[in-house]
Amino acid sequence: MADEFQSNNGSLDRDSMTLAQHVLQEVESLGAEAQDISALMNRVAFAGKLIARRLTRAGLVEDAMGFTGKKNVQGESVKKMDEYANDVFISVFKRSGLVCQLVSEEMEDIYHIPENCPIGGYTLLYDPIDGSSNVDINLNVGSIFSVRRRQGAQVDDTGADLLTPGHDQMAAGYILYGPSTVFVYSIGKGVHAFTLDPSLGEFILAAEHVQIPAHGPNYSANEGNLWQWDEHFRDYIRYVHRHEGYSGRYSGALVGDFHRILMQGGVFLYPGTQKNPAGKLRLMYESAPLAFLAAQADGKATTGDQAILDVQPTGIHMRSPLIIGSKEDVALVESFIQERKMEQQPVSTGLAAS
Ligand code: AHG
Ligand code: MN
Ligand code: MN
Repeated sequence: MADEFQSNNGSLDRDSMTLAQHVLQEVESLGAEAQDISALMNRVAFAGKLIARRLTRAGLVEDAMGFTGKKNVQGESVKKMDEYANDVFISVFKRSGLVCQLVSEEMEDIYHIPENCPIGGYTLLYDPIDGSSNVDINLNVGSIFSVRRRQGAQVDDTGADLLTPGHDQMAAGYILYGPSTVFVYSIGKGVHAFTLDPSLGEFILAAEHVQIPAHGPNYSANEGNLWQWDEHFRDYIRYVHRHEGYSGRYSGALVGDFHRILMQGGVFLYPGTQKNPAGKLRLMYESAPLAFLAAQADGKATTGDQAILDVQPTGIHMRSPLIIGSKEDVALVESFIQERKMEQQPVSTGLAAS
């Protein structure tokens, strides 16, 4: 009997490391906040399961594919899954007692949950469905989340207290809805990945302390925008086109593209364009949470001018250019930016003005 246990020991131990168990272990040092963060992660994971359930039946159920006919605050057409996933997070966190404000790509204003405010010291910022153009064609999409502590005892209805750099995030992560559903999170103690076992309904540990390789083969950018980019980004693309060892990989869903880079290395870039000088991605619930993960996984994230985690937000829906991934690959992109900047600087003649 004992021998039998020994032979099953490895796989059973692995299956027993659920997300809930792992978070509890991770938050031990957080003292009073430990229970809150653990409950919060479990609620986000539950939202992910509800969204995954609908996505797996998208072609069969009504109201999963196609557009609602509305536009969101970014002026983009809202898909039915965007609206559904947004409502899932509201519903799950209304009953949490933990979160007193929600900020979502799909809501112009902050969603207040006053009944949670006396005890709910956290704000959840999220992109309910990232890459929603992929929903109708059964390709990967994701949800991105960021957790911030409420500043001060009173809730600032204007949201001004949320507008601080990404270093102030206390946790961040994403759920990737692919062939399997994957949950990736960090509370500032490394990056950990879990896979949903549908037969158990549990996220099971798949990879602990994930590190982005210092360099990787993937470059991920919408090259259809190349004509609208600054010359230095074109320089970089010309470089990878002319050197061995690079593979273009772009799925139209940032979460999926970032996940590939987290696991295999490389760089994702969404620079500013002529039409949108700050790019397309939103700082507070897209770029900053992924930058938090990148920093925890020994990677790097920048706008090209500044570390993403240092950017001072000017509004909850602010956009930012994003270059994120392996340290060496992000540095290579930055070197092209620097080179062009040097060229643009006036050449000193060495003569003092008389
Ligand atoms: P969302 O679906 O939340 O609006 O995000 C889409 C984002 C991101 O996931 C992706 O990397 C990028 O937009 C794709 O944009 P392009 O179609 O301009 O390449
Ligand atoms: Mn998105
Ligand atoms: Mn979205």
